[in-house]
Amino acid sequence: MTWSPNSWEQRLQAQEVIYPDRDALDAVVRKLQRLPPLVTSWEVERLKSYIADAQEGRRFLLQGGDCAETLDDCVSDIIANKLKILLQMSLVLIHLGKRPVVRVGRLAGQYAKPRSKPTEVREGVAHPSYFGDLVNRLEFGAESRRPDPTRMLDGYQHAALTLNFIRSLSAGGFADLHHPEYWDLAFLERAGISDELRARYQDYTRQLGEALEFMEALGEGSFDDLTRVEFFTSHEGLNLRYESAQTRHVPRREGYYNLTAHLPWIGERTRALDGAHVEFFRGIRNPVGVKLGPTTTGEDAIALARALNPDNEPGKLVFITRMGVDRVARGLPGLLSAIQSAGLRVLWVCDPMHGNTVKTESGVKTRSFNDILGEIRRSFAIHKDAGTLLGGVHFELTGDDVTECVGGGLGEADLDRNYASACDPRLNYRQSLEMAFALGESLGQQPKRPASAP
Ligand code: PEP
Ligand code: CO
Repeated sequence: MTWSPNSWEQRLQAQEVIYPDRDALDAVVRKLQRLPPLVTSWEVERLKSYIADAQEGRRFLLQGGDCAETLDDCVSDIIANKLKILLQMSLVLIHLGKRPVVRVGRLAGQYAKPRSKPTEVREGVAHPSYFGDLVNRLEFGAESRRPDPTRMLDGYQHAALTLNFIRSLSAGGFADLHHPEYWDLAFLERAGISDELRARYQDYTRQLGEALEFMEALGEGSFDDLTRVEFFTSHEGLNLRYESAQTRHVPRREGYYNLTAHLPWIGERTRALDGAHVEFFRGIRNPVGVKLGPTTTGEDAIALARALNPDNEPGKLVFITRMGVDRVARGLPGLLSAIQSAGLRVLWVCDPMHGNTVKTESGVKTRSFNDILGEIRRSFAIHKDAGTLLGGVHFELTGDDVTECVGGGLGEADLDRNYASACDPRLNYRQSLEMAFALGESLGQQPKRPASAP
């Protein structure tokens, strides 16, 4: 089948959003097609080259942010705090892992959510489920849950506002590696962090400052390119109306770019080989992520890799495994050996969140810090045995003091104190920083090149 930005319409679409007003939908799509892109092909290609490095062990990918961003959370503090925790985690990973870290936020567009049930019933009343702020509203009611296409314009605008703030902060010195103290220490005081962790973090930032001074003294100049911190964006490319409306040719380049985000990904529920999402994603030039859950077979993984990256291009494909701590030993080795023996290029990333969701006795969705860390540690060990590399991690986290995951200072009784997620439970600031220290230790032991090149 010939690919076009709309060829997916010929395929079955899992998680399809049915918009009752077709004319309104068409008007929104036309508007989105005319608006300027959120990201550029230059940035997309740069990220692809970094992912290619990460496939060879020369970089490590840190991807993180909310399960579901909301339009209401497009607030300076919340965005800055997310940026800070990602920067701090990356610093810890650079220090302990001894390699550059590529930072990719689940932000500026993570507004669409797949749901296990299309409708939600409360006290005998049924309405469509909440599919994320890009589609409808969280509030339970006929009006608020009706899919409204104009929310795609709201989503686009809020993504643009978020990106604008992130770009300004990065350009304005907030993310300058010379000044990790901006990222910042007042913040460290607030979060009930242990003295030991605080001291370690402060020690790292001091060493980093000294190392930069030393390098600059040697070169008698400044290392602008080395010390400016880059951020990339990602979200689940679930709503194909939104994604395809922003997919276009750019001058002097071949092919089509999805310019809503640098790294869009396909979710576990929408990765059917003959489905609409794989059809759409196979035609874009962006690097593409795919979530792989515990039922994925080696043949599935090979077929997806061939469909999404037929030329076996470096940096193009990111497989994000999300097995669960108890299933990773059964699910992961077969995928690694299948992809390896087929000679296919993939960046292996561990999402230790989505296979480890549990409900407490009182019915609250949570995840345990130990299970999350457990899946990461097991994944490192499985990759080591297979001679492959774990090239990145994917977290649901926030820079705020929420109480959604247990462990790292929180018990079940704490969960209702500040449970703020619109969807899945996120690591809070302290849990995220502790996770970075624990993860960094495993990363530091991983070789910097694969045992066997593809
Ligand atoms: C998610 O990343 O929020 C998500 C829904 O993940 P998955 O597709 O892996 O279930
Ligand atoms: Co989630």
